[in-house]
Amino acid sequence: MDLLTYNTSLTFPHKHLLCLQEYSPEDILHVLSVGLHIKKEYQAGIRHQILKGKTLAMIFTKSSTRTRVSFEVGMLQLGGTPIVLSGDEIHLGKSESVGDTAKVLSRLVDGIMIRTFAQSDPEQLAAFGSIPVINGLTDDYHPCQALADMMTLYEHKGKLKGLKFCFVGDGNNVSSSLGIICSKLGIDFSIASPAGYELPEKVQEMIRANCAASGSAFVMTASPEKAVQGADAIYTDIWASMGQEDETARRMKDFAGYQVNMGLLKQAKPDAVFMHCLPAPRGDEVTDEVMDCPQSIVFDEAENRLHAQKGVLALLMGSDD
Ligand code: CP
Ligand code: NVA
Repeated sequence: MDLLTYNTSLTFPHKHLLCLQEYSPEDILHVLSVGLHIKKEYQAGIRHQILKGKTLAMIFTKSSTRTRVSFEVGMLQLGGTPIVLSGDEIHLGKSESVGDTAKVLSRLVDGIMIRTFAQSDPEQLAAFGSIPVINGLTDDYHPCQALADMMTLYEHKGKLKGLKFCFVGDGNNVSSSLGIICSKLGIDFSIASPAGYELPEKVQEMIRANCAASGSAFVMTASPEKAVQGADAIYTDIWASMGQEDETARRMKDFAGYQVNMGLLKQAKPDAVFMHCLPAPRGDEVTDEVMDCPQSIVFDEAENRLHAQKGVLALLMGSDD
């Protein structure tokens, strides 16, 4: 399948992007198709103004480099205006309920992107507001990252369905979203996590249901060596996520043995790619050698945050220019 031409229409059945489990495989491929199409046209010098006159409020109660810059640049490149609101500057969840903030922002802007702790925050913004809401990472999910990762994998492998994807590490927001998107798209998903750090039950159930529909396989194990066998892609993420800083010392001990190093990478397919959402504290979950080797595509993923999210923005907020 050529994703570049799969479906570039701006007619889309969803108003929000909250998890990804709510999207069908076709919806996900549609987002990737629009994102890839806009990427190719941008590189050819074509400047779409799909978001001309539209404003996106970007709420951050956690740090960000890639999400902040890629959404802001994406809005500007599509002719729109981003407004960045940091958690300590706004009233959200303090002197004002999330619902009231949603109602106010709905009168003033055309969309909201939020990076925060509780998954209930983007869900409540969507429930109480009348404008599109995009999840830019919560404790539970990171759907925009998963979309950019699939775009990157497609560019490197020329296909998605039938690939084998392996995550080594924490059953966290990033691996949850990757498990969901892989199982929807017919990609086998294996994950190796230490005891006590497995994917949440709820996410395991989603992945199993998706696998039953797509025909892909799902393996959970404590053994990184077992998980990487036959993998086309090996992915890892930080051992202590934002909000878990107090647990860092314990996690460093518990995740010892889950580092992606050359020894582990060599046990996957010879042409396997290495992936990471970044930021990566080098020397913990991944060695310098792996980060900088020719199989590493981590900076392509970072760039594709921009292109995949332009697909999301165009479909949720755009109109034909
Ligand atoms: N991968 C990612 O979301 O990076 P930031 O935390 O820098 O936004
Ligand atoms: N799991 C990490 C991802 C950062 C992009 C975190 O939540 O901090």
